[in-house]
Amino acid sequence: MTYQMKIPSCLYGGEGCIDQIKEIIAKEKAQKVLVFTDKGIQNTGLLDILLGNLEEAKVTYRVFDDLKPEPAYQDVEVVMEEVHSCDGDLIVAMGGGSVMDAAKLCSVLKDADYTIRDLLKDPSLARKQRKTVMIPTTCGTGSEATCNAIVAVPEEQSKKGIVNDDMIPDYVILDGVTIAKLPKQIVAATGVDALAHAVECFTSKKATPFSDTYALASAKLIFANIREAYRNPDNMEAKNRMMLGAFYGGVAITGSGTTAVHALSYPLGGKYHIAHGVSNAILFAHVMEFNKEACEERLELLCDAIAPEICHKSRSEKAQYLIDQIADIVKLTDIPTNLEEFGVKMEDLDFLVEAGSQQQRLLVNNCKELSLEDIRNIYLKVLK
Ligand SMILES: NC(=O)c1ccc[n+]([C@@H]2O[C@H](COP(=O)([O-])OP(=O)(O)OC[C@H]3O[C@@H](n4cnc5c(N)ncnc54)[C@H](O)[C@@H]3O)[C@@H](O)[C@H]2O)c1
Ligand SMILES: [Zn+2]
Repeated sequence: MTYQMKIPSCLYGGEGCIDQIKEIIAKEKAQKVLVFTDKGIQNTGLLDILLGNLEEAKVTYRVFDDLKPEPAYQDVEVVMEEVHSCDGDLIVAMGGGSVMDAAKLCSVLKDADYTIRDLLKDPSLARKQRKTVMIPTTCGTGSEATCNAIVAVPEEQSKKGIVNDDMIPDYVILDGVTIAKLPKQIVAATGVDALAHAVECFTSKKATPFSDTYALASAKLIFANIREAYRNPDNMEAKNRMMLGAFYGGVAITGSGTTAVHALSYPLGGKYHIAHGVSNAILFAHVMEFNKEACEERLELLCDAIAPEICHKSRSEKAQYLIDQIADIVKLTDIPTNLEEFGVKMEDLDFLVEAGSQQQRLLVNNCKELSLEDIRNIYLKVLK
């Protein structure tokens, strides 16, 4: 087997590294920066740190902050109309996955002769038009490491990933300061999303030695720090480790791929607007329980990495321990464990099964094939 993986070319890490944006600007000889962010981040004061640095670097900039969380592709089109009418030689995204994905799309759409609708039909058209700098402010999606951009497609009541190597970010700044004041429910939901990336990529049919290294490192960091990062928002050590864990999870996605948790989660985001991390968290342990028999050895390896103290137990016990830990984290961080509060009803089951089964891009990676009946049974477990 041969394998390959794309990673961003230049990484900055550690508290305070956000100031290195000046170095990037100098290196790129940038004159005008296009800054992507959203209103939620504006209110935290984080944007002021970034803009202060841009002013010190003596570049002009334009801020686009009209992005909605979990945007539909039409929302990105609206922003692109403004972006097209504006100069700019470097794109800087400061935000969660929603902002970073929109910025990555902008990096291939600006001045291009194809549109986002064309990319939804044929992602291979994308060509990088501007370099990008990603500054994540949640600890989950790992979008700062991936070639993916996910958008909602309202006509299909689901979400779709546009994936192209040209969307790999050029620079990544991982500064724990950006999640110091992240609301704890978002720490929890995005942290579980990162954990899902690690576990799904490690058990994926597409896993390779490259992706395994990052998936394992990610799982270790997130398992060890998510409870503390949730309970004690001032623990910066835990926050910095979550930041790294989320990034490694993203790298694992580019070398491997997520599986049935993410696949079945997309209709929940697309139709019911459940936050990405939350819909994954609701499904996570149930899908792994379904997968267990097909990936017991891999779950054992993960368990050995996160809980060496139980290395004497049997393979099956260790696999179960790992799944129980996932369920425990979801419960402990107060993420909903079923779909009740989101207004999803038993009558929605047929829609969910049909829409979930359409997510073949990810379902083909799952270590065990899912029949329509299997998909139905998994959704049934989270419907009340
Ligand atoms: N490209 C990829 O590889 C990839 C992978 C997984 C998920 N995604 C996508 O990413 C999106 C979800 O991203 P997300 O989970 O990071 O959340 P998000 O970007 O949607 O942000 C959620 C909310 O948190 C707020 N927020 C962000 N950072 C904050 C901070 N530091 N302080 C206070 N508030 C803050 C935002 O304003 C927003 O209201 C989904 O669309 C999902 O499909 C992409
Ligand atoms: Zn995810």
